[in-house]
Amino acid sequence: MEVKTSLLDNMIGVGDMVLLEPLSEDSFLENLKNRFDHNEIYTYIGSVVISMNPYRSLPIYTPDKVEEYRNRNFYELSPHVYALADEAYRSLRDQDKDQCILITGESGAGKTEASKLVMSYVAAVCGKGQEVNKVKEQLLQSNPVLEAFGNAKTVRNDNSSRFGKYMDIEFDFKGDPLGGVVSNYLLEKSRVVKQPRGERNFHIFYQLLSGASDDTLKKLKLDRDFSKYNYLSLDSAAVSGLDDAANFRTVRNAMQIVGFMTDEVQSVLELVAAVLKLGNIEFKPESRCNGMDESRVKDKNDLKEMCELLGIEQAVLERAFSYRTVEAKMEKVSTTLNVSQAYYARDALAKNLYSRLFSWLVTRINESIRAGTKARHKVMGVLDIYGFEIFEDNSFEQFIINYCNEKLQQIFIELTLREEQEEYVREGIEWTNIEYFNNAVICDLIENNQNGILAMLDEECLRPGTVTDETFLDKLNTVCAEHQHFESRLSKNSKFLNDHSLPHTCFRIQHYAGKVLYRAEGFVDKNNDLLYRDLSQAMYKANHSLIKQLFPEGSPSKVNLKRPPTAGFQFKASVGTLMRNLQTKNPNYIRCVKPNDKKAAHIFTESLVRHQVHYLGLMENVRVRRAGYAFRQPYEPCLERYKMLCKKTWPHWRGPAREGVEVLMEDLQVPAEEFSYGRSKIFIRNPRTLFFLEERRRQCLQDLATLIQKIYRGWKCRSHFLLLKKSQIVVAAWYRRYAQQKKYQKIKSATTVVQSYTRGWQARKLLRELKYQKRCEEAVTTIAAYWHGTQARRELRRLKEEARRKHAVAVIWAYWQGLKVRREYRKFFRANAGKKIYDFTIQRIMQKYFLGLKSNMPSMSPTDKNWPDRPYLFLDGVHTELRRIFHHWRCKKYRSQFTEEKKAVYEEKLEASELFKDKKALYPSSVSQPFKGDYLEISKNPKYQKLNSSVDEKVLLADVVNKINRANGKGSARLFLLTKKSVVLADHKTGQIKASVPLPELASVSVSSQTDGFFALKLKEGSASAVKGDFLLSSEHLIEIITKLHRIGAKAADREQLNLDISDEFLVQFKQDKVCVKFIQGSPKNGNSASCKRKNNRLLEVSVPTSP
Ligand SMILES: Nc1ncnc2c1ncn2[C@@H]1O[C@H](COP(=O)(O)OP(=O)(O)O)[C@@H](O)[C@H]1O
Ligand SMILES: [Mg+2]
Repeated sequence: MEVKTSLLDNMIGVGDMVLLEPLSEDSFLENLKNRFDHNEIYTYIGSVVISMNPYRSLPIYTPDKVEEYRNRNFYELSPHVYALADEAYRSLRDQDKDQCILITGESGAGKTEASKLVMSYVAAVCGKGQEVNKVKEQLLQSNPVLEAFGNAKTVRNDNSSRFGKYMDIEFDFKGDPLGGVVSNYLLEKSRVVKQPRGERNFHIFYQLLSGASDDTLKKLKLDRDFSKYNYLSLDSAAVSGLDDAANFRTVRNAMQIVGFMTDEVQSVLELVAAVLKLGNIEFKPESRCNGMDESRVKDKNDLKEMCELLGIEQAVLERAFSYRTVEAKMEKVSTTLNVSQAYYARDALAKNLYSRLFSWLVTRINESIRAGTKARHKVMGVLDIYGFEIFEDNSFEQFIINYCNEKLQQIFIELTLREEQEEYVREGIEWTNIEYFNNAVICDLIENNQNGILAMLDEECLRPGTVTDETFLDKLNTVCAEHQHFESRLSKNSKFLNDHSLPHTCFRIQHYAGKVLYRAEGFVDKNNDLLYRDLSQAMYKANHSLIKQLFPEGSPSKVNLKRPPTAGFQFKASVGTLMRNLQTKNPNYIRCVKPNDKKAAHIFTESLVRHQVHYLGLMENVRVRRAGYAFRQPYEPCLERYKMLCKKTWPHWRGPAREGVEVLMEDLQVPAEEFSYGRSKIFIRNPRTLFFLEERRRQCLQDLATLIQKIYRGWKCRSHFLLLKKSQIVVAAWYRRYAQQKKYQKIKSATTVVQSYTRGWQARKLLRELKYQKRCEEAVTTIAAYWHGTQARRELRRLKEEARRKHAVAVIWAYWQGLKVRREYRKFFRANAGKKIYDFTIQRIMQKYFLGLKSNMPSMSPTDKNWPDRPYLFLDGVHTELRRIFHHWRCKKYRSQFTEEKKAVYEEKLEASELFKDKKALYPSSVSQPFKGDYLEISKNPKYQKLNSSVDEKVLLADVVNKINRANGKGSARLFLLTKKSVVLADHKTGQIKASVPLPELASVSVSSQTDGFFALKLKEGSASAVKGDFLLSSEHLIEIITKLHRIGAKAADREQLNLDISDEFLVQFKQDKVCVKFIQGSPKNGNSASCKRKNNRLLEVSVPTSP
């Protein structure tokens, strides 16, 4: 059963006092000293850790150490506070048990350090992450802040906690910290105004003065010199190994991490400064007329500065230091304060100011570190409360502190000694009772509601009439005199009467940790903890948010005549709550022991340690542990944990758990004296046995793990194989299907080909047959048709022949009949009927003729040549006559719609036709041209205005003509005007009249028979105009000019007609000579117009293009 553990191997002395042999107080101390000398400051008593203060730093708190202890069995490594912290954290995380770590010991024994070690260990091993780290950091950084304001140097400890602290750290189910709650217990506020010799005020005052920058100090109106402040003790202001300035920076940094706002930090410092200022306010007596002394502020400078810092009206505070208002039964009475009362008031204010600031700090820290979620969480409480204190001069504070320690001892006894022994009895384990001192009786002396010391004190404080510390002592003497742990000079307990070491004003209590002499002086005051209402009201009026918050009772709306609960009462209540809280959690003990009184390393003062071992009840602790069993566990979890160590219980035990455990133990051959069977638990005497079991379990777990691994691997391979096999089948199936599909498709297509050939062959065969059949049918049909045709035609011929014969017969018969009838009736017919028939026939024919003519009438146009054909030869004359009549009638109709002008035009046209029709080839082309007359628009055109005005008569015709030059036959343009009386020729460009021939002087006009426009105007011989000779002209409007000239010329000359001579050769008189103008048919060389050429002196030849 050799288990290698460092708890037992290479051990200095024994690591666990339970294993100490022989066990006596001497050997116990010897073991402690031995270990202490070898720097082994931790020793176990079972699961309790004894911690000796080394007073120097040891290299056992490194991160490596943390890793070493992490997740290890409690007894596996050498004793360490980390082992305890690990155990507590793991059972919190894994077994869901709330934990509390109770750290007890005298002042300076190392409680606060131990609590910090526990917290830092837990912080190091629990979860990580940004959020978690922030929570951790805040939880850890709350310590320096609270220590600066709540710790002070005492004779026993340079960093003594002057308040009790209980911190709940909350974790989630994973073991990650969520936040925490700090509870504080009774700050020793009397220290603010007065410190015993060799001690200091709270650290913060010194830190502020030495660490703050000049600027900050100036703002706070402070001076760096400690000696300027009455409240600071001077002889021990500097402590070796304590760097106040550096600590101040740490504190400020910590405040920032915890979450204090800059203005909050400033407010806090202002309050600290105000307390220092307050201490400097001094008073002097001023005699009043009624013979009483009244206090006055001596030097108002400090008062003024303090008031400025806190925004208080100076006069208000000043008055509060001189007067006191007492309210009783709705009456307000103002009394003056004498100098000592004023000092009392000042100190009370300072104490209250500071202690309330401290409480506010705790609340503020809690606000920051409070867990965010409402979800259920696990809690680890760390209790670091002031240790048992025995000073030369012990007052109310020590009384309270020691009371608290009594209670903690009580809970220790309850949970370890009594509870354990009771459990053995309960479980029916054979047990010899161990005697130990139960301090319940002392607790009762102090806290009993009827006659406890605290109750007496409260009774005195609330009693009307004069109450002093003496009356309180008297009361104690009468009520508690009989109590065996209470001693006083006046006690009725006669055995103490001769004790001269006991002064009259004191009483002594025999605490579990020793006798303590308390001076009754100040008990009543401190319990009352009175602050004059005037002062709290003055504070409330301050223009400073934090101060106002700290003194809510100063509010005028809160005038309450009821006394506030006394300090003792409050403390008792909070300790009660704490104890109840602790009882719900699984306790873990660290019992701190102080090796010497000199705060020095390496010194082991045996008497001092012996005393502590004694009153801490450590010997009893060991004895109970040894007589008892190191480890116990209910059967079910025990069997569950170790059942794999035995074949019979593994993997399932069917019977009751206890029997299973018995079988297990037997199988493992654990010696019978090493364990006992209780009613519901197995008790294992020695940790070694437990280690043995654990070691076996560990090995077994490895084997099991291998087995599980083996099975798992086997299973994994098999399932992999099965999967492969299954997959292979699937793949094969798919492939086969695919191959068969391909094959099938091939066969199918081949079959289709064969099939198609066969079907084709069959079809063709069938087609051939059908075609042959059809041809046969067609041949038959044709033959039949021919046959039928022949038949039909033969029949038709026969029928026609028949019909002809019948017709012939009928005709012949008709002729024959006719002949017969005519022969018979000839004589009657010839006489009468002939003429009638003739007339009727003629009449019918005429009728038909006229009706036919009526419906076939031609159009009304006179040019329409149509006329229906003549039906009968005998109507020839009538038909022609009717046509003529119709034409005349329609011409008349046509003429009747003419206007006068149109009539004139047509008359002209008619005359033109009479003149030229069939005489001149040009005529037919002129028929369609309207006779416009004025082609020059002479009256409108401004160019001819002058010409127009120079001609007297109305211009009947105006046109451009060519005047042919005799010399060369060429034409030149002339304006040709015709009026009623004359013919005028004018210059084509200027409009100037060249010649004007009166019409009577015009003899005749000659034109050709061809298509040309040449004409000659021949003048009467001997007339005025004839001097120059005749005119040979050509015009496009020849027909019109001649026609008009003919009409007007005739009238003007008063003769029948103007002579018109149409011939292709005529003579023209030019001056003296007569020139012959000859017209010949020429090739159309010069286009369509005729051209004139001079042939010789007597001949002008006009070549006229042949008309098409
Ligand atoms: N484990 C330790 N290692 C080194 N020094 C320690 C240790 N425990 C305590 N001390 C020293 O002892 C002093 C007092 O310890 P502290 O925890 O403040 O005592 P308590 O809280 O019990 O009054 C500390 O300031 C420190 O110097
Ligand atoms: Mg402490």
